[in-house]
Amino acid sequence: MIQNVTVNIDGALISVAKGTSVLDAALDYGICIPHLCRIPGVEDIGGCRLCIVENVVNGRSKITTSCTLLAQDGMVILSNTDKIRRLRRNIAELLVTEAPNSRAIQDIAVRCGVKEARYPFRNNDCVLCGRCVRLCTGTYGVKPIGFVGRGKNRTVQSPFDLRTKLCNECGRCIDLCPMTVPACDGMMKPGEERLCGNCEAKLSDADLSLGYCVGCFFGEGFHCQRSPINV
Ligand code: FES
Repeated sequence: MIQNVTVNIDGALISVAKGTSVLDAALDYGICIPHLCRIPGVEDIGGCRLCIVENVVNGRSKITTSCTLLAQDGMVILSNTDKIRRLRRNIAELLVTEAPNSRAIQDIAVRCGVKEARYPFRNNDCVLCGRCVRLCTGTYGVKPIGFVGRGKNRTVQSPFDLRTKLCNECGRCIDLCPMTVPACDGMMKPGEERLCGNCEAKLSDADLSLGYCVGCFFGEGFHCQRSPINV
């Protein structure tokens, strides 16, 4: 028999099956918590940190990623406080600094209230969200790609930098990668650390259409007709 637990998220009492993450509980209920690295059905690792929330225990709050936090009876979660919005905006700003020409990342940054970045654009082609790596290991149980190196030298690579036959035939990671969503219209360069605003305009249009999130797969956390994020 499925056992349920009841968690309080932003004042809403939400009953979910034991083992459900706080992020899934919130999204299922319609509370909008931004997220990037989550893949439904694959174990979460808390990589992008966009889904942070405050977990209040005995009057003290601890900041944690909601995708890795399992809902428990009596848990009190705050997902949209000033502190969380400020921290989330900083995280989104760092992400967009890494990959300013990714539409998916820009959508997220705009939703999190980033107007311009305080750091030089780096134009990387990977934000190390790990969606590709986790899809391979979590869904297929194989490791044709993985993280290599640490800190700023960390990259995603295949063993000996050789693509396996499996990779050539599969390519599912391409669909999941935030960098492969069609590029931003307003290409941005180092020295122009300002979002072009196109995403903001498109997201405003998207807000008018139920369930439409600018054609990317990363809009789930920004479900347009659900509770908007106050920025
Ligand atoms: S979705 Fe939770 S850390 Fe990325």
